[in-house]
Amino acid sequence: MNIIDIISKTKRSEELSDEEIKWLVNSYTSGETADYQMAAWLMAVCLNGLTERETVSLTLAMRDSGDILDLSCIDGITVDKHSTGGVGDKTSLVIGPVAAACGIKVPKMSGRGLGHTGGTIDKLESISGFRTELPFADFAEIVNTTGFAIISQSGDLCPADKKMYALRNATSAVDSIPLICASIMSKKLALNADCLLLDVKCGSGAFMKTQEDAEKLARLMERVGRAAGKKCRAIVTDMDSPLGNNIGNALEVREAVELLQGKVKGPLYDTCIDLAANMLELAGKGTIEQCTAMAEEAVSSGAALDVLRRTIAMQGGDSNICDDVSLLPQAKFSHEIRASRDVRIVAVNSEEIGMASLMLGAGRTVKDGDIDATAGIVMACGVGDNISMHAPLMTLYSSVCSDFSEAAVRAVRALTFEDI
Ligand code: URA
Repeated sequence: MNIIDIISKTKRSEELSDEEIKWLVNSYTSGETADYQMAAWLMAVCLNGLTERETVSLTLAMRDSGDILDLSCIDGITVDKHSTGGVGDKTSLVIGPVAAACGIKVPKMSGRGLGHTGGTIDKLESISGFRTELPFADFAEIVNTTGFAIISQSGDLCPADKKMYALRNATSAVDSIPLICASIMSKKLALNADCLLLDVKCGSGAFMKTQEDAEKLARLMERVGRAAGKKCRAIVTDMDSPLGNNIGNALEVREAVELLQGKVKGPLYDTCIDLAANMLELAGKGTIEQCTAMAEEAVSSGAALDVLRRTIAMQGGDSNICDDVSLLPQAKFSHEIRASRDVRIVAVNSEEIGMASLMLGAGRTVKDGDIDATAGIVMACGVGDNISMHAPLMTLYSSVCSDFSEAAVRAVRALTFEDI
């Protein structure tokens, strides 16, 4: 087999065999195929796509490029959940504890944020002492004890995806449905939970901008997951506006804790309950109605907050934040933005809010760059709200930037108003 033939075939939209795809992934992971050759093949995929069989084959070859975890030491049914990434998406911090409080096991490996979307690991690291790098045996022990743990992805899982994702990022080859599917599903299949719930975000702040593309990705990921022998469901959720009011690492942990304290309702609460209910149903806990009631009860009884408290403590973090959110790191500087006239909010563009938050220090512009855990935005308005002149629209926070002028312009640009 040789790389030129493989690139040429995909360039001509000819289907590759399983053996050719396996060879391509293995030869790239080992260094035999060069970055520029893989970049050419990835661009051919972006332009011409892959068949479903090729996508399954690529996903499995990427999964097999590194370790596949053996979760048999975890008692009971394991369910993993993955979001394709969005702005203000703190659902993992809520639904892991909710699902665990309802009797299933949620072993989660998450990533860091890049660009305008946040990463669960960065959010958790805003909790003083919280350790996201743990040996597998400790991870499994926490899951067996509390039902839920989150660590960062181990270096030995899917090395092929690590190399390919970096290359795609640097060559404008991220937004391809088969490549996104293979990248996400190879990591999920390497974690190897019994069931898998995929939250495909759709809208201005997501990779998938249209409902049609989001549905396409969702159905493809389901078929790939099932082809690999997993119970798998993908649902499409809205990411046209940020999820919840808080955007930024410590601010999002705060909102997740407040939700588990029973203080947050609205779209964030509804999305979390829906996702948790789907996880429970996938795990065979009952009908979707029964699972929805169980998830709501886990929040209202405080059982889910208790899971989070015990998980934070076992991962070395300050679990007192579950009772007093003011113990989370606080920004040195803040800046409130108020309405200059009476307006109705017609839209909140989540990508623009994500970019404003990144400018305040909440995200990274380069891989492994530093972030400010305290930075971000708390929205005081949402779509459909009527806001009176001089009433607050949002507050910006940062500890690294005391001049809010540029970020404020960007944040206000995210809002579409109409006069009332
Ligand atoms: N998240 C991933 O892990 N991979 C992609 O390609 C896109 C989002």
